[in-house]
Amino acid sequence: MKKKVLITGTGLISKHISSKLEKEGIEFSFLSRTKTSDNHYVWDIENSFIEEDAFHGITDIIHLAGANIADKRWTKKVKKELISSRINSTKLLIKHIKSNNIKINTFITASAIGYYGTKTTENIYTEKDPKGDDFLSELCYKWEKEADNISDYSRVIKVRIAVVLSQKGGALTKMKRPIKAYIGTTIASGKQYIPWIHIDDLSDIFLYLIKNNKTKGVYNAVAPEHINNYQLTKEIARELKKPILLPNIPGFVFKLIFGEMSIILLKGSRVSCEKIIKEGYTFKYKSISSALKNLLKKP
Ligand SMILES: NC(=O)c1ccc[n+]([C@@H]2O[C@H](COP(=O)([O-])OP(=O)(O)OC[C@H]3O[C@@H](n4cnc5c(N)ncnc54)[C@H](OP(=O)(O)O)[C@@H]3O)[C@@H](O)[C@H]2O)c1
Repeated sequence: MKKKVLITGTGLISKHISSKLEKEGIEFSFLSRTKTSDNHYVWDIENSFIEEDAFHGITDIIHLAGANIADKRWTKKVKKELISSRINSTKLLIKHIKSNNIKINTFITASAIGYYGTKTTENIYTEKDPKGDDFLSELCYKWEKEADNISDYSRVIKVRIAVVLSQKGGALTKMKRPIKAYIGTTIASGKQYIPWIHIDDLSDIFLYLIKNNKTKGVYNAVAPEHINNYQLTKEIARELKKPILLPNIPGFVFKLIFGEMSIILLKGSRVSCEKIIKEGYTFKYKSISSALKNLLKKP
């Protein structure tokens, strides 16, 4: 059966996955809050609206929509939006699929490595580990659990995504800017791990999961090499041929600026990618140096 993928949201990862699908000749369309092109269908989560025909011919769904986690301080209002944009959107998708009796093969939802709790430990978390007990782990847990409500209907896959490194946008853009301006440096002790993944590998993993009918359940999407904040800062500076001149910035500065959200900069443990490797996926960018060489090369 010819595949047609519906991707929710039109952000960093959605766009990258769609360009991969295009290269492979797989049809796709987007479900977005705004219509900016012919293959964009509109939905309004608050008002439980999905444009007619959005699901026409759809065989697989990749659910990536959600308010950005690292954009704003986590006020009560922002937290509510972070939760509702993920949970209510999943609810709406599932309700729509079930009530219209739409047949789909795969429902893949994004989740995040924040599932395990944002803390610095010596653990290497696998898919079998329990959830943590902070805001992000609770959010990821609820998000994943909501997706399970379609498991009687479709194959369900949950991808716990690490920090995505890409050429434009996302975490790397934020990290390279100060380094280029000679004001970049290590955050706090620098010992907090930063599980990361090259956007090319992440998109390939989504395609791999869609194409391989045997895959299901939870997968960590994280590169094999473990690095901490100090090592990542040093590697970016080396690739950009810039010196690190400043001393470490103490953690309390980030707490003052970002409040509770600073946890994602100040804490982190290692996360394992063994499951996806064992099931046959081969990483293109295994080491941070190969990923940065590719992402920071001059156009
Ligand atoms: N990038 C990372 O490092 C990373 C790491 C772990 C997990 N993730 C997760 O993976 C997913 C995709 O990440 P991304 O980096 O591509 O995110 P992104 O660039 O921020 O894009 C998310 C998209 O979701 C839609 N959206 C934004 N706010 C929304 C709201 N309030 N209600 C409904 N839809 C909304 C938007 O698309 P429209 O404007 O078209 O509606 C937006 O472009 C997210 O859920 C994110 O939490 C990302």
